Parts: sequence; C-alpha cells; structure tokens
Amino acid sequence: MSNIAILEIDGKKYEFPIVKGTENEIAIDIKTLRSVTGGITTLDPGYKNTSSCESEVTFLDGEKGILRYRGYSIEELADKSDFLEVAYLLIFGELPSKEQNEKFHRDIQKTALVDEDVKKILDGFPKTAHPMGVLSALTSALTAFNPKSVNVSSEEDMYKAIVKILGKFPVLAAWTYRKGEGLPLEYGDNSLGYTENFLKMMFALPNERYVSNPVIVEALDKLLILHADHEQNCSTSTVRIVGSSHAGLFASLSAGISALWGPLHGGANQAVIEMLEAIKEDGGDYQKYIEKAKDKDDPFRLMGFGHRVYKNFDPRAKIIKVAAEEVLNDLGIDDPVLDIAKGLAEVALNDEYFKSRNLYPNVDFYSGIIYRALGIPTPMFTVMFALGRLPGWIAQWREMRLRKEPIGRPRQLYVGATERLFVKEENR
Ligand code: ACO
Repeated sequence: MSNIAILEIDGKKYEFPIVKGTENEIAIDIKTLRSVTGGITTLDPGYKNTSSCESEVTFLDGEKGILRYRGYSIEELADKSDFLEVAYLLIFGELPSKEQNEKFHRDIQKTALVDEDVKKILDGFPKTAHPMGVLSALTSALTAFNPKSVNVSSEEDMYKAIVKILGKFPVLAAWTYRKGEGLPLEYGDNSLGYTENFLKMMFALPNERYVSNPVIVEALDKLLILHADHEQNCSTSTVRIVGSSHAGLFASLSAGISALWGPLHGGANQAVIEMLEAIKEDGGDYQKYIEKAKDKDDPFRLMGFGHRVYKNFDPRAKIIKVAAEEVLNDLGIDDPVLDIAKGLAEVALNDEYFKSRNLYPNVDFYSGIIYRALGIPTPMFTVMFALGRLPGWIAQWREMRLRKEPIGRPRQLYVGATERLFVKEENR
C-alpha cells in the first residue's frame, strides 16, 4: 500500500501521510488538513472514523473479537492474572515483578483512608441519590482535599496520585452504597486483597463477623479485569479530553464517571437487568420484546445488545457468560431472570434483524446477572464498572499527559442561521 493518501478538491490535490499502527491498522494523518486546504475539516459525528490519539495501552479488533491490554490477551489475563496486577500492567506498561506488585499494593493501602470530612459531603446527598452521581461528586471533591496538582514531569508525583486514587476510590464506591442502605461506613481491612477488601467495605455488618466467599471474590476480580480498559470509548475519551486541558487527575476521572453513567455506555448493565425484570413482570414473553426492538417506530432497544466496535462478538461477553454460569452453579442460584436472558439471547442471535446488523450480546448483557448473583444491588452495577475501569482511565490519562497531547478541541460544521438583525421583543 502507498504511504500517501491523495485528496482532491476542485481539481487541487492534497497529500496526507498514511500511518500504520503496530497491529497494521491504517490511518490517514490529517493533522495538516485545515492549514493546507484553508480551513476544510472532516465531518464525523460520534467520531466513528476518527483516531483521536496514538495509544500503546489497549488493542482491540472489533471484527475479529480481539481485546488485549498492553499486548496480553483478555482471555489470558482473566484466567491467570488478578485485578491489581492488571491495573499495574495497564498503567505502567509491563507486568510487575513480585516486589513491584507488593509495593504497589502496600502503597495503595497506605492511602486508603479518606478524609473524615468527605463524610459530610456524603451526608448531604439524599439516600435515594443514584450512586453514580454521588461517586462522581465525591471523586471530584477529592481534588479539594488534595489541592496540590500532580507534577506530571515527575514520575514519583504521578505514582503518588495514582496509588492515592486507587486506594480511595473503592472506599468512596462502597460508601455510596452504604449511605443508600443506611449502613454505618466501613474502613476495610489492609490484610485483605484489593477485591476482597472492597467486598468487605460493601457488605460487612457491624454486628456480624465478615467472612468472604472465594467464589464471589474470584468472580468479581474477573469482572473488574474484563472492564479495566477498552481504548477510546466514551468515558475514556472524556477523561483524556478533560485531562488535556490540564485539569487534575481526580477531576478528569470524575468527568469519566459521568460519561460512564449513561445507559448507552456503562449504564447498560443496570438497564439490562431492569429490562429483564420488566419482561419477567410482563409474563416472560421475550419474543414480544424482540419485536419491539425491531420496530423502528418503537424507541425500545434490546439493552446489552450491540456494540460500537465489536461487530462479530464481544470477547468479554464470552468469558463472562461462562463465569456467570459458574457463579450461579457455585452459589446454587436459580434465577428466572437468567432464563429470560438465555432465551432472549438465543432468539436474537438467530433473528435476521440482529444478525444482519451484527448485534451480539455485549459484556453488559451478562455482567448484570453476575453482579445480581453476588448480591450487588442494581443501582450499584455501573459503580462496579467504574471501579473496574479506573486503571484504564488512569493509564490513558497518564499516557495523554506523558505524550504532551494538545488540548482536545474538535471543530464543527455550522448549519445554523446565517447573520441576521436583532428583533426587538415587541416585534417578535
Ligand atoms: N436493539 C435494537 N436495535 C439495535 C440495537 C439494540 N440494542 N443496537 C443497535 N440497533 C440497530 C439500530 O437501530 C440500527 O438499525 P438501522 O441500521 O436499521 O437504523 C443499527 O442497529 C445500528 O445501530 P447504531 O445505533 O448505529 O450502532 P452504534 O454502533 O452507533 O451503537 C450501541 C452501539 C450504542 C451500543 C447500540 O448498539 C445500543 O444502543 N445498544 C444497547 C445499549 C447497550 O447495550 N450499550 C452497552 C454498550 S457496551 C459498553 O458500553 C460497555
């Protein structure tokens, strides 16, 4: 293939370099487009055809269903690694040695106490507040308690900020849940692993000895690994773009949490369970909902189906489907909602509408089922996603700052009114 792309406008030719990624992905480098053409831009709503950055963190091939963090396949990582090790890998680029891993965990633990005044902010929220809103606000509030901005030219400063948020975030996530339940706040136990400690902070009761269930710990750890990064998705792009203005790490993460909240992104796992429950309440006739999803006059979409980039299958969904069945078997749970999910997936996978549009169950179709089996309440599902995605957001933010990327600032094609004269109120 030639290494130059030629664009012809009104008989005038412009040349742009063709650049290749390490996995042979090809992009036309249009950095000079506006300057050489006198202001012409590309129009690409939703950035479906735009690579916003060069990144070394995660590779995914939507057609082949490949997902790799720093070169390691998601299947191997889910099978052989643990969440904290994957976090280190994503953020710093290499698997840690035993010493690095232990130090990383210790450093995270040292920062895991949140300023007691944060509780006052938490208390200001009604119990009914959605935990994602609370989490986003508390993460942003951490900036006020840690006002010194991160010196990104110092690896040490960067490391300190990273372990700080990895330590405090699970506390904030668990507290949002406990606040909603009216439970006293829990501080965790540094003798436990990262995921096990999070579960304790969520579920320990003051009048009972907390005993963790290894099946639950392992299943949650796997889920967190599967959610840990997904290259330039909506929330990650948000973190990068907010961080590109040199806003701090915590503020950038808080924006990422808000982006993740929406039902077309991380909020889908909650939407899936709500949809399955609604189908159950409605008598369990999932065929009716398949028809609704296909009806263009009906806004209903089959939640947990379809993906912007995976057009054959979502590799995470494959792993999670097996894990969901294992967890339900191990815990002896017989959930009618799971039967509806299975039936729905089977019908949709054989239906021409879904087949022709390459709509397959995505990671969220099954993750909600596991969260439910683990005893995690539905409004907390997206918080679990945020906890998993945290290392990915951090890794992408760090990369963006280390690469000294320019501030993110897309252009637009203006299609509004042309210049007109102001009309006084009495004449309107
Ligand atoms: N149910 C019914 N039809 C669907 C669905 C669905 N879940 N998803 C897409 N379609 C249809 C669209 O109506 C469209 O049909 P058309 O070509 O006849 O107009 C076609 O499939 C393409 O859909 P787009 O919206 O253009 O696909 P896009 O790539 O922009 O959207 C998205 C991807 C947002 C994930 C979409 O599939 C969706 O809304 N899914 C449901 C929500 C969901 O599960 N989100 C989680 C995503 S995974 C994650 O964030 C971790």
